[in-house]
Amino acid sequence: MSLTRKHLLILVGIVGLLALSACTREITTIVQEDPQPSNCFECHSDVDLSVVRAQTEWAESRHGEGETVFEGTNPSCVRCHANEGFIQYVNGATTYTATTTPTNINCFTCHAPHSNGDFGLRITAPVALLNGESYDLGKGNTCVVCHQARRDVAVYITSSNNINSRYGPHHGPQGDLLMGANGYEYEGYTYTETPYHRTMNEDGCVNCHMRNVAYEVGGHTFNVTALGEDGVTVVYNTQACVGCHEDIGDNYDYNGVQTEIDGLLVDLKALLVTAGFVNASGTPLTATGRPADDAGAIWNFMYIGTEDRSHGVHNPAYARDLLQSSINYMNSRTPG
Ligand code: HEC
Ligand code: HEC
Ligand code: HEC
Ligand code: HEC
Ligand code: HEC
Ligand code: HEC
Repeated sequence: MSLTRKHLLILVGIVGLLALSACTREITTIVQEDPQPSNCFECHSDVDLSVVRAQTEWAESRHGEGETVFEGTNPSCVRCHANEGFIQYVNGATTYTATTTPTNINCFTCHAPHSNGDFGLRITAPVALLNGESYDLGKGNTCVVCHQARRDVAVYITSSNNINSRYGPHHGPQGDLLMGANGYEYEGYTYTETPYHRTMNEDGCVNCHMRNVAYEVGGHTFNVTALGEDGVTVVYNTQACVGCHEDIGDNYDYNGVQTEIDGLLVDLKALLVTAGFVNASGTPLTATGRPADDAGAIWNFMYIGTEDRSHGVHNPAYARDLLQSSINYMNSRTPG
């Protein structure tokens, strides 16, 4: 072996060692600037187990399961389905780069403990919906980056619409409903809303979905409902509501609002099925050239029913008005 080659090998070895010793930078799977946690043992200790607790809860969450993480291999989807895209968003990306090895939504997606030395959130400012509307939801701003529609109704619905089975806002428009936005609004109908679930909840989503921890609900499970230990009984985390609704009872059907919304959804679906707009399972049927008001009824059904899934709780009055006005339209519409 020549001397130069030996030197080269030593050099490679040294570089390798350097890379290894710098691995506190690498473990987070994301590129970070100057990681300087005050003291590793503040978080990684045998005494304070809040990290372990959060991790146990998160492992039970849909985020932790990562069922849709491989949508992160598509640049149009990576922002919301994989850690890598969310970090690009945080860094101000306007176009996204996919990855063949996406990581799911994990601790380092929402937090940067190794950079900041604490559990502050990466996102603190209000996040705008596609139509530019925003509202400061405190710690809930993080959620709205991903839990918002991918389509702005004002742009998406035109005078002539092509419908297919994927028609609708896609897939997590909870931020839109909480803000009372992005429904298809019929001319001549007056729309109202129930603003209190964002105006009185300083951390928006977080107040209801994370604040109280019980069996598979609250905290980092992010769930408001779960199946109980027997695998049959539904657990409702009504402790998240009781501060404002003393008389909430043991489920979320406060004042019968969820029953009412579900009833309107049944009525609207029946009208849409009869008109040939959706099939019996509520999936939009392929069609071309549907006028705006027809497309709007399908949009509102998908938005409130299939995609938001709070049975109206996120914004009871707006949900009710969107469904009622769609029903009124479908009843008055001349078939054709
Ligand atoms: C502010 C809290 C905090 C501090 C300070 C902190 N960490 Fe972490 N660390 C975390 C969290 C949260 C995780 C992810 C949960 C876990 O694996 O326990 C983590 C995970 C890790 C992991 C596992 C990584 C992986 O991908 O599974 C290593 C290794 C690690 N930390 C090393 C360190 C070292 C070394 C230091 C000090 C230089 C440090 N941490 C300081 C919060 C912290
Ligand atoms: C703006 C953020 C965002 C973008 C971009 C996005 N998604 Fe999603 N998607 C979500 C959220 C949030 C959910 C979970 C919604 C829920 O559970 O209410 C979801 C759910 C899904 C689901 C599961 C649906 C179900 O019914 O269980 C699939 C599949 C999916 N997305 C595919 C995609 C694909 C494919 C793309 C890219 C073409 C994409 N998503 C882009 C936010 C997004
Ligand atoms: C989807 C975003 C998200 C993910 C993923 C996430 N967190 Fe959090 N985390 C939050 C929010 C929001 C809060 C504030 C909760 C509150 O104010 O009640 C928080 C608070 C915390 C806190 C302080 C409050 C507490 O519960 O003790 C710790 C510690 C923490 N997270 C650790 C973790 C760890 C460890 C992971 C990964 C296993 C993780 N987080 C994953 C959003 C997230
Ligand atoms: C990086 C994007 C992202 C962020 C940030 C995010 N979510 Fe999610 N969330 C998703 C996706 C994607 C899914 C669907 C996961 C799947 O099915 O694989 C989901 C699923 C959920 C579910 C479960 C839905 C179900 O069908 O059971 C809840 C509840 C939820 N998120 C609440 C929140 C809350 C509350 C926050 C803020 C603290 C938040 N999410 C932040 C992307 C995100
Ligand atoms: C006023 C309390 C409250 C607020 C604020 C709130 N939610 Fe919900 N959310 C609920 C309730 C209640 C349900 C429906 C539970 C049921 O009946 O199944 C729900 C349902 C959901 C679901 C459907 C999945 C599931 O677990 O059934 C997702 C996803 C979700 N919310 C995300 C969010 C996001 C993201 C935000 C903030 C933009 C938010 N929520 C704000 C109470 C709230
Ligand atoms: C920060 C306070 C706050 C929290 C927390 C809160 N709500 Fe509300 N909610 C209100 C206010 C205020 C109203 C409007 C006045 C009223 O109807 O009580 C309202 C209205 C409602 C309505 C409509 C009632 C009607 O007759 O139109 C429903 C349904 C509802 N809330 C369900 C819930 C559920 C379920 C939770 C917990 C997951 C919850 N709320 C948590 C403040 C809150």
